[in-house]
Amino acid sequence: MAKSDEVFALARAAIERDHAKAVSTVRCIIAGEADRSTLKPRLQRLLENFASRNPKPEDGIRLDNGLDKLVQLQSPSHDLDQVVLFDDARLQVADLLTEQRYTDALAAYNLHPRNRLLLMGPPGTGKTVLAGAIARALDLPFLVVDYGNLITSYMGETGAKISKLLDGLAGQPCVLFFDEMETILAERSGNPERSDVGEQARIVSTLLLAMDRMDHRILLVGATNHPDMLDRAVRRRFDLEIEMPLATEDAARALIKTLSVRHPGLPFAKWMPALLCEGRSLADLEREMLARGRQWVIRPDLPR
Ligand SMILES: Nc1ncnc2c1ncn2[C@@H]1O[C@H](COP(=O)(O)OP(=O)(O)OP(=O)(O)O)[C@@H](O)[C@H]1O
Ligand SMILES: [Mg+2]
Repeated sequence: MAKSDEVFALARAAIERDHAKAVSTVRCIIAGEADRSTLKPRLQRLLENFASRNPKPEDGIRLDNGLDKLVQLQSPSHDLDQVVLFDDARLQVADLLTEQRYTDALAAYNLHPRNRLLLMGPPGTGKTVLAGAIARALDLPFLVVDYGNLITSYMGETGAKISKLLDGLAGQPCVLFFDEMETILAERSGNPERSDVGEQARIVSTLLLAMDRMDHRILLVGATNHPDMLDRAVRRRFDLEIEMPLATEDAARALIKTLSVRHPGLPFAKWMPALLCEGRSLADLEREMLARGRQWVIRPDLPR
């Protein structure tokens, strides 16, 4: 293909948001580049990064025997450095990732990396984005448990599905994300008035057993808004607990840094004092910053 045709094909793919076309055009360009070209390795890296961020089920993981109904394979939205964390939490995550990367070296001494992480914090504090960012950092598929299909009203079936899920994933390294854990793992003694207490207890004990014998190459990440509601035995099974931050001044400043990378040119720092208030979530703050950003672009006549 002539250079001008390649540029045209790329422009068209970008404008029409046709990923497959863009990728195949980039492959053509790579094939046509000389070995000494500096563009060639840069484009190859770009393709590799794209592939690792958009894993296809057939590339990384097998979800057969109905597993595809119990989990969804998702593409993480954030890199780890775009997730706002308390300093000590960032260190904890870094330690966890290092251990995960040394799985084989540890195995030689009959050790295994920690692989059960509990994220705690109010809604909109970044639990889901952190779980995804960890998957992306480790280059692992990010599987989100789908409660719609996992929880059924038939006695014992939910527990059986949890076992089936964890057994089915054995041998397949991944990040397995259980959101809103308290919905399925409330304290077993619970409220005796509730008719589903027996079923709840069964779900909890199945998960405890499954967690005990889970393949260590599965990194289980649980998230909860109510850690106090979790069954204590379940909570003890986690190797690590991380608290997510609300929008303090420091956290807001860190959020502005990541927003400024994604939306360069918008004066987020100027808006912060008006938007920041005690107890807000970062998701709320981000939403309002982006709303102001849209107004700033569309209505230059308004006071800036
Ligand atoms: N700590 C954070 N770092 C970076 N972005 C954040 C953070 N917290 C929230 N956000 C922004 O807010 C959005 C919502 O965050 P997320 O869905 O991860 O929250 P959550 O804690 O999982 O909430 P929920 O409990 O409602 O599931 C994200 O897409 C992200 O843009
Ligand atoms: Mg979430």
